[in-house]
Amino acid sequence: MIRETIVTTRSAAGDSHIAPMGATVIEGGYLLQPFRPSRTLDNLAATGVAAVNFTDDARMFAGCVTRRWTDFALAPAREIDCPRLGAALAHDEVVVERHEDDGQRAKFFCRVVASANHAPFKGLNRARAAVLEGAVLVSRLSLLPDEKIDREMAYLAIAIEKTAGEEEWEAWHWLKEAVAEHRRRRAS
Ligand SMILES: Cc1cc2nc3c(=O)[nH]c(=O)nc-3n(C[C@H](O)[C@H](O)[C@H](O)COP(=O)(O)O)c2cc1C
Repeated sequence: MIRETIVTTRSAAGDSHIAPMGATVIEGGYLLQPFRPSRTLDNLAATGVAAVNFTDDARMFAGCVTRRWTDFALAPAREIDCPRLGAALAHDEVVVERHEDDGQRAKFFCRVVASANHAPFKGLNRARAAVLEGAVLVSRLSLLPDEKIDREMAYLAIAIEKTAGEEEWEAWHWLKEAVAEHRRRRAS
């Protein structure tokens, strides 16, 4: 199973980085697979630690991929020298046990060394899931055909219209604007 998470890392120089990342559940931890170019990849290779943060705030995923909101509050992790997401519902601290690299994508096999819960999870929401899917589409705008983006965004909009709160509407507008901006830039 892949959990959609916000991975926080730090560089060897001490700079924090935040990125949405799928974390494949493996025995004792997670497999993280960043594509190049990726600061997460560089940081994992350099420091060998990360925090895998769980949040139900879909704006974080949309905010990162659209660059509309990335200055999330961070907090120190307990067992590793790396920040975690301050507003995470829960987080796992991981250390890289081994990694493979094919030049395009790296595979970091990570072991969980500490975990903490911070706030209750209050249930699933279709609009949040739709924003998450939209954020994945936006992160692949230059790889996917326009018709696929339009078709899938139109379907996801149904869940937004039926079940979104203010935050999900805001995130959805960021994603729609990112699609429009991508097309404006490409046309000019
Ligand atoms: C829900 C979600 C899951 C993602 N999972 C991955 C992933 O597993 N690997 C990856 O390379 N990028 C993934 N991305 C895209 C990255 O977050 C994005 O490309 C980011 O810029 C990575 O580069 P960075 O490490 O330099 O921030 C995902 C995006 C979203 C919205």
